[in-house]
Amino acid sequence: MIKTRFTEAFGVEHPIVQGGMQWVGRAELVAAVANAGALGMITALTQPTPEDLAKEIARCREMTDKPFGVNLTILPAIKPPPYAEYRRVIIESGVKIVETAGNKPQEHVEDFKKHGVKVLHKCTSVRHALSAERMGVDGISIDGFECAGHPGEDDTPGLVLIPAAADKIKIPMIASGGFADARGLVAALALGADGINMGTRFMCTKESPIHQAVKEKIVANDERSTDLIFRTLRNTSRVAKNAISQQVIELEKQGATFEQVKELVAGSRGKMVYINGDTDEGVWSAGMVQGLIHDIPSCAELVSRIVREAEAIIRGRLEVMTSGGAREAAE
Ligand SMILES: Cc1cc2nc3c(=O)[nH]c(=O)nc-3n(C[C@H](O)[C@H](O)[C@H](O)COP(=O)(O)O)c2cc1C
Repeated sequence: MIKTRFTEAFGVEHPIVQGGMQWVGRAELVAAVANAGALGMITALTQPTPEDLAKEIARCREMTDKPFGVNLTILPAIKPPPYAEYRRVIIESGVKIVETAGNKPQEHVEDFKKHGVKVLHKCTSVRHALSAERMGVDGISIDGFECAGHPGEDDTPGLVLIPAAADKIKIPMIASGGFADARGLVAALALGADGINMGTRFMCTKESPIHQAVKEKIVANDERSTDLIFRTLRNTSRVAKNAISQQVIELEKQGATFEQVKELVAGSRGKMVYINGDTDEGVWSAGMVQGLIHDIPSCAELVSRIVREAEAIIRGRLEVMTSGGAREAAE
């Protein structure tokens, strides 16, 4: 057992979170993560309407009686989704934990807090973490440059971002981006975090509701198998390197506007990758951590392996080093 301020504050067994994942964070995965004693997040905007989200939360409850959360991602959009309605559904469903991500979460945080919902805010810089802390969130998920999805524009990797944030943040904080195994968990704890958040690793599990071919592609890929698209638009997104991401980067080099790449990056195409298993059909998120993913375990196997091996590293390798027995351990 590894108990931290995070497990205490959020009422979960293990200091491991499955962050929101568009098209992937559905009830099957979230329930499996919850049953494994970690904290899963249903991705609100994967559901086409707030009513569908209510049904997805109910479906998840049928598969687990453990706590789980909902991710609400607030991104700039020409036609924004009805955020307030999604928020209302979350509150009325009785879910007690929300992961917020993206721009200006203030009105959402205030409403969630008013209704006794704990907020874990995910962000990619110390200044945004501090501002969320001032807003009254209950925890921070600090996402380094390695991460899948939106790493921000500061390009600060976890090795610097996590301790820099830990120096300033007083509330529980989990480290995100690039985590897949026990070594990562122990490192995150050593850097001052109270746990880890994983996206790509949970995407590549038995219960993850995506095509087997995508999971096998993640296993085959390595740490260089990502691309950063939309750098020129200052809305960087880390995706799995494929024919489409390369095409988008080429067009960006030629000065393309969003309009000119819109068709290539359409969410509907990305969604089809997970359904059909053709990994070149659209852009899909995955992190550098692909280089550390070599199998497709169940969520229960994955979580228990991480916790068990983390304890072994702390009690074995690290303990031996501090007790002066490093040479004997190596021999
Ligand atoms: C397929 C996929 C979709 C994602 N979609 C979202 C999303 O909708 N909202 C969000 O806040 N983060 C999203 N993320 C980011 C994850 O929640 C998490 O922060 C990130 O994956 C951590 O980096 P890692 O993949 O190296 O573990 C997504 C990640 C993946 C892999």
